[in-house]
Amino acid sequence: MAKQKWKGGALIAPVPPAMISCGNEADGTANIITIAWTGIVNTVPPKTYISVRPSRHSYGLIKQSGEFAINLTTASLVRHADYCGVYTGAKVNKFEKCGLHTEEASEISCPLIAESPLSLECRVTDVIPMGSHDMFLADIVAVRVDENLIDNDGKLHLDKAKLVAFAHGEYFALGEKLGTFGYSVKKKKKGPPSKQGTPKKSQGKK
Ligand SMILES: Cc1cc2nc3c(=O)[nH]c(=O)nc-3n(C[C@H](O)[C@H](O)[C@H](O)COP(=O)(O)O)c2cc1C
Repeated sequence: MAKQKWKGGALIAPVPPAMISCGNEADGTANIITIAWTGIVNTVPPKTYISVRPSRHSYGLIKQSGEFAINLTTASLVRHADYCGVYTGAKVNKFEKCGLHTEEASEISCPLIAESPLSLECRVTDVIPMGSHDMFLADIVAVRVDENLIDNDGKLHLDKAKLVAFAHGEYFALGEKLGTFGYSVKKKKKGPPSKQGTPKKSQGKK
């Protein structure tokens, strides 16, 4: 495979086009900003980050309150995610324009997006200037999940949420399932079921 060498660039893909809710409903500042520069940085305690340009209207809201929520984007929300990533909350009420509803969070004061099936309530611990963006490092203090995605045994079926990925400027629906955590080393069962040879019960924990 012949490869060209390019200068360093932000080309990780896919990333989530996450819908970040911030501000406060009571004082009319509730807002949504779409953020692709996000991810998990630690498992215990659960920590995440969002990188936000200081010029964004949401930047001041998040810096002031120290709180935000990451709402995962589904196929039915993706047009709204794009809208919230183009228009500024300084000029429009994005909840109203998109016909989205606020939902009270359990641990933070900013609202969640009711139509998103999974929201992470986050409290900022550090603000780290990176250059173009500031990174808000945050504790994930609660997770809110649509009950329709949880089976009777309490297992979450996120594959049923129709989540969306963002890759190099384009949105994609998640497609075919190719495997599950540890499947590459799992021995095929021969004869009667046996626990031998199966990976530890880590359930995808990293
Ligand atoms: C798919 C997508 C991803 C984006 N990712 C980021 C990001 O990671 N950081 C950022 O500062 N802006 C990002 N933006 C741009 C902001 O969402 C956009 O400037 C938005 O209008 C800011 O809203 P606000 O002024 O109400 O805060 C992204 C936009 C889109 C459409």
